[in-house]
Amino acid sequence: MKSPSPLWRVELRHVTKSFYRGRQPLSVLGPLDLRVADREFVALVGPSGCGKSTLLNLIAGIEQPTSGEVWLDGELAPERLGRVAYMHQRDLLLPWRTVLENALLPLELRGIPRREAVARALPWFERFGLAEFTQAYPAQLSGGMRQRVAFLRTLLADRPLLLLDEPFGALDALTRASLQEWLLALWEELDRTVILVTHDVEEALILSDRVFVLSPRPGTIVCELIVELPRPRSYAMVTDPRFVQLKAEILAHLRARTTLEVPLHGT
Ligand SMILES: Nc1ncnc2c1ncn2[C@@H]1O[C@H](COP(=O)(O)OP(=O)(O)OP(=O)(O)O)[C@@H](O)[C@H]1O
Ligand SMILES: [Mg+2]
Repeated sequence: MKSPSPLWRVELRHVTKSFYRGRQPLSVLGPLDLRVADREFVALVGPSGCGKSTLLNLIAGIEQPTSGEVWLDGELAPERLGRVAYMHQRDLLLPWRTVLENALLPLELRGIPRREAVARALPWFERFGLAEFTQAYPAQLSGGMRQRVAFLRTLLADRPLLLLDEPFGALDALTRASLQEWLLALWEELDRTVILVTHDVEEALILSDRVFVLSPRPGTIVCELIVELPRPRSYAMVTDPRFVQLKAEILAHLRARTTLEVPLHGT
């Protein structure tokens, strides 16, 4: 089935999701409509438990919506698994595989010959400062290093759509800032579409074209902000009056609807 609309990389139409707790349905998401254009970078911010990871699971095809539709590339896409690169909130590294073998997994699954897969992966290890750790096992790495391996593995999946669930959550501020700037440069270079979930409002603004603020569970979109800051961007922009204004607006939306639990960075 083809959509008559312009080519949206992702389109959610009136999506809802409920889970069952015993016999009681728990409504966690929606109703929600969301469109992400090809090569756009959008961020989702919202309180803990409002359904952000669930939303990414729905787009990736790990979960199916209770009602509504998920479209990818102008097609209703009930079979979405494997069509997107997804970095989960937990790093999901396989403990019995070395760092290199973990990173090679997406290439292996696509049947790329090992020699070629290694040749593709190794330059990324250099760029991520992980070259010395290719033969280490995940348990031998720090939390931040594990996250970088998971990020690297997601990039190697080489899909036009990247779903990133708090990719820099466990990193120290310096590593985090340098990886954010690096992701920006990479995005500008590779023209991929990115949907980023983050609790960090500054991160959302530095990286994105649009930021969506979600309500507490069941998560719905309470506000969409267009980030009209020029590119290329850098952290120097955090003092730009437009940046300060947008940040205040997002924080006001989050505070208005949140009681406890929300780790608001950059406040
Ligand atoms: N498979 C599942 N079965 C039952 N309940 C679930 C399942 N997955 C998520 N939930 C519930 O759905 C709600 C939303 O969870 P989700 O992980 O999407 O939130 P989140 O916005 O990503 O939160 P956080 O910011 O803390 O990561 C939570 O109440 C959670 O307990
Ligand atoms: Mg989550």
